[in-house]
Order: sequence, then C-alpha cells, then structure tokens
Amino acid sequence: MPEVPEKLLLVENLEVRYGATQVLWGISFSVVKHAVTCIIGSNGAGKTTTLNAIAGVLPVKGGSIRLDGKPITALPSRERVKRHIALVPEGRQLWAGMSVEDNLLMGCYLPALRSRAHLNLSRVYDLFPRLKERRRQLAGTLSGGEQQMCAIGRGLMSEPQLLMLDEPSLGLAPILVEEIFGLIRDIARQGMTILLVGQNIHYTLQVSTYGYVMEVGKIALGGPSEMLLNHEHVRRAYLGIA
Ligand SMILES: Nc1ncnc2c1ncn2[C@@H]1O[C@H](COP(=O)(O)OP(=O)(O)OP(=O)(O)O)[C@@H](O)[C@H]1O
Ligand SMILES: [Mg+2]
Repeated sequence: MPEVPEKLLLVENLEVRYGATQVLWGISFSVVKHAVTCIIGSNGAGKTTTLNAIAGVLPVKGGSIRLDGKPITALPSRERVKRHIALVPEGRQLWAGMSVEDNLLMGCYLPALRSRAHLNLSRVYDLFPRLKERRRQLAGTLSGGEQQMCAIGRGLMSEPQLLMLDEPSLGLAPILVEEIFGLIRDIARQGMTILLVGQNIHYTLQVSTYGYVMEVGKIALGGPSEMLLNHEHVRRAYLGIA
C-alpha cells in the first residue's frame, strides 16, 4: 500500500473577516510534513490573511487549525511561536536600524532558544554565507535579495517545525528570484515543512510538492503541484498559456 503522507497542519473551514467584510469563506487545506506546500492566487485572494490566521496574528471567525493533531485555533501568537510556527512576512519587516546579526538574533528571543542562539546563527550563516559577510551591516542597507535572506534566516533562528513564507520573491530581479527559490529548495531538502505563498506562480509550483489555488477567499483547486502546473485553468488564468 502506498504510504499516506503525514500532515503537520490541518486547516478546516477557516473563516476570517475584517470588521464586517468577510475575506476567508471556510477554507480547508493541509500541509504535509517535510514537504513544500504552496498557495497561489490573485492579489487580494486572501493568501496573506490565511498565513496571518495560522500565525495567530489575526482572530478567526470560524473553523479550526490543528498542528500535529492538536488544536491551536484559540492560542495567542506567542504560544504558536513556542510551538515552532514561524512566519516570514510579506515585505520582510526587518528592523532597518539594527545589524543583520541582531535581526537574526531577534528570531531567537524565546528563553528556551537562547542557549542555542549561537548554534542556530552558525547554521543560518552556513546557509547564507552572504549574511555572515554582512553581519555587522545595518539591515536597512541590504539589497532586496539580502533582506529576504535575512528575513528567512530570522525565521529559521526560531527552529521552526512549520516555516511559512509570504511572497519571498516580491520585488526581486529575475536572477535573485532564482537564487531565493534555490535557497527555499535547499531548506526543503533539509527536511523543513514549508507553507509557501508565491506570486511567481511558475517557480512556486516548481519548488513545491502540493499546491492550492485560492480565489476570492475560497480554495478553488488543490493537488500535486505537478498536476496544477498542467491544469488548464491554472495555465490559462495564472501562467498566461492559452
Ligand atoms: N487589515 C485589513 N482590513 C480590511 N481589509 C483587509 C485587511 N487586510 C486585508 N484586507 C482585505 O482582505 C482581502 C485579502 O487580502 P490578503 O492580503 O490576504 O490577500 P493576498 O492574497 O495576500 O493578496 P496579495 O497577493 O496582493 O498579497 C483583500 O481584499 C484585502 O483588501
Ligand atoms: Mg499577500
């Protein structure tokens, strides 16, 4: 019998609204352990809202979120960080006036992690040698690609079991887009469980194993990314191939 992939995250009938405006209409999806799962969709579909709801920075109106079988829907964001859920937010949100190294160390602020900060720092520097070279530089003076590396590095400092990446290639030149997706592939090869939201649909589907298409607050399609890459609707609506 084929092995059933183990799910780390299970989202069921999730509903979120901003004031009176509902933006997520009962979405359900799962994230398989040690694999990359992506959510693609147009601007305003609700992708960032979904990641923020999982991170606990947004309240939910209905539905449930389970991590390793345990409900986390009611937990504050701090508790979710303790359960090793990390969000690398859209737009990176680094502390511009702090050094690269201090930004990275901010990912390790939980008391339980402090004793391993230096070990984690050396792991991040192994993965991103460019950040090591620039560790004393102010984060605000990094190039866009380096800032993205720093934001991903900060996420890795918290020893995530689930790493969520929101639009990691946003605003980057094509050559850097390729580099960032290469790095995501490297992190995935080390066994990380990743939930990736990507604007660059082609790369996002290529780097992931499973994917979901989100349209106006609902999941329109889901399945193996390879299937989605060849799906007529995805090709037409998102890849511009007739
Ligand atoms: N704080 C907010 N208050 C009110 N409406 C919001 C708020 N944040 C997001 N929205 C709305 O919710 C909808 C979903 O937004 P969201 O940022 O989740 O989309 P997205 O799929 O991440 O889009 P993009 O690809 O542009 O990043 C949009 O219509 C947006 O205008
Ligand atoms: Mg977004």
